[in-house]
Amino acid sequence: MAKHYDVAVIGAGAAGMMCAAVAGRRGKSVLLIDHATKLAEKIRISGGGRCNFTNINAGPANFLSQNPHFCRSALARYTAQDFLDLVKKHRIPHHEKHKGQLFCTESSEHIIQMLRDECDAGEVSWRMPCKVGAIEQRDGGFHITLDDGDVACDSVVIATGGLSIPKIGATDFGYCIATQFGLQIVEPRPGLVPLTFDGPSWEVFAPLAGIALEVEVSTGSAGKAKGGKGGQSRGGHFREDLLFTHRGLSGPAILQISSYWQPGTPIVLNLLPDMDVAEELIGAKTTVKKQLGNVLTQWLPARLVDGLLAANGFAPDARLADMADARLRKLGDAINRWEIVPTGSEGYRKAEVTLGGVDTRELSQQTMMANKVPGLYFIGESVDVTGWLGGYNFQWAWASGFVAGSSV
Ligand code: FDA
Repeated sequence: MAKHYDVAVIGAGAAGMMCAAVAGRRGKSVLLIDHATKLAEKIRISGGGRCNFTNINAGPANFLSQNPHFCRSALARYTAQDFLDLVKKHRIPHHEKHKGQLFCTESSEHIIQMLRDECDAGEVSWRMPCKVGAIEQRDGGFHITLDDGDVACDSVVIATGGLSIPKIGATDFGYCIATQFGLQIVEPRPGLVPLTFDGPSWEVFAPLAGIALEVEVSTGSAGKAKGGKGGQSRGGHFREDLLFTHRGLSGPAILQISSYWQPGTPIVLNLLPDMDVAEELIGAKTTVKKQLGNVLTQWLPARLVDGLLAANGFAPDARLADMADARLRKLGDAINRWEIVPTGSEGYRKAEVTLGGVDTRELSQQTMMANKVPGLYFIGESVDVTGWLGGYNFQWAWASGFVAGSSV
């Protein structure tokens, strides 16, 4: 006979542990199952080892989904302040970095231990590492085949995350189960990921690896998608740091815009967002006798200036005073509105999140239960709700885990 539990949660990551702890504390018998040998690797490596565990400003506008209002209910029922209160209750040293991002001061291990302690308080049972086989509907509940003994349960919660970072155990399990039960999937793709560039127009920028600067970045494709099928996004526009890498561009600005970027479309960079470069150059023409490059290096790193001049057909020793206004306007535009088409992205190997997932129109926004399969829940990154960089993705994991844990 398969051992019976009220609830089986598959995936002991951020969302799964939160859900199990909440359900356990409500007096439910809960089994938490994970195939990994090491608990919650993603929490451990997050935020450079210090886990950016929430963002105090988190709200629906910080999330991408084909169904943008879906996340509203869970985020309102379990807020960033609620998670912060839990962190404070467990006396975990923490601090705000910038833009509302809250980090552990010492180590992300503190968050893992906190969730473990919360699961212990809810008397959650564990099977880990444990391979999960089939999930079938049986006797009004579910039967789950596990490699160390099958279990039966009234509710099953899928919290197996997305496809990012396969080397630490990411699988498509959630999507397979959703498909098995007839639920739609929004096609997954890598998000919060460095973008790659190649070809002749990128050659002058390839040697700039290591250069970082604050920029504004946007993508037109997001704007065009507005009001399109499902109204995927309100358009991506961010002011953050940009980093040149050996294979392309990274840094928070690029990670943020990558979630809005559609392959084949350009991103637009403003390398000097506080300045109208053409106006400044034209205004300086009569008073400044310097070379154009020397003027630009007042505002931009010298190696980047060399690359920009070469890419726009200016000699390295071009003199500002000799330049026609029209050419300076073109150069200004290339700096204030640099439009480039990425070749691709670094993919799931480097992506912090997976966009898409179980279509939220299949789920109840109050409980995360599948509308047409009573007792089957999906939470966290397996669902088509993806946050910006900055603690938003964990807040979604906590909030969706909380509402499912309160309902099972
Ligand atoms: P998560 O991926 O956390 O957990 C899924 C669990 O399911 C794993 O334990 C896995 O082993 C298990 N599993 C998968 N397939 C299975 C199967 N077939 N059978 C059994 N178990 C299975 N976010 C943020 O807000 N702040 C941050 O600082 C960061 N930093 C960050 C850094 C890096 C490098 C990455 C890759 C990601 C981040 N993130 C982040 C994103 C954040 O880590 C992510 O959104 C959450 O961990 C998602 O939580 P889930 O519980 O949904 O999945």
